[in-house]
Amino acid sequence: VLQLTLAVLKPDAVAHPIIVEALQQRILENNFIIVRSKDIVWRRRDSEKFYSEHAGRFFYQRLVEFMSSGPMRAYVLAREDAISSWRELMGPTKVFRAHYTSPSSLRAQYGLTDTRNTTHGSDSVESALREISFFFPEFNAEEWLERE
Ligand code: CMP
Repeated sequence: VLQLTLAVLKPDAVAHPIIVEALQQRILENNFIIVRSKDIVWRRRDSEKFYSEHAGRFFYQRLVEFMSSGPMRAYVLAREDAISSWRELMGPTKVFRAHYTSPSSLRAQYGLTDTRNTTHGSDSVESALREISFFFPEFNAEEWLERE
């Protein structure tokens, strides 16, 4: 089925224009349609709100610090099975595991650490809708899908 997902290039990636270019190339090569994109810088409170489900985890402080440390690029991507396809292209969260199991994934190729892992992607239809409206409050995902 045609789906939308939220994809984010994190501050470690956006710090290097050549990596942004490479990542965007991989997005297009893998048949995603870029429906919306924007560059954005988070305040610490945006970071805390977006990742509130991780509050209390050992990596939470470094995660919210990192995600508000510089510019990011967010995309609404469309494709057949966009959610699982984007997650597969990213590879596992942990960079060591990414190297081991999916050496051609984005996180294996560009990720620096388990926190500075280059990209984010929604993990379900519900979280995609929630995360898309977090980054693109003016975009109506349900209406867009109905029109396709
Ligand atoms: P993301 O897919 O954006 O979702 C939660 C983020 O927490 C994750 O990517 C990583 O950037 C960060 N993180 C840091 N350490 C860990 C860890 N040990 N397990 C899961 N996520 C982690």
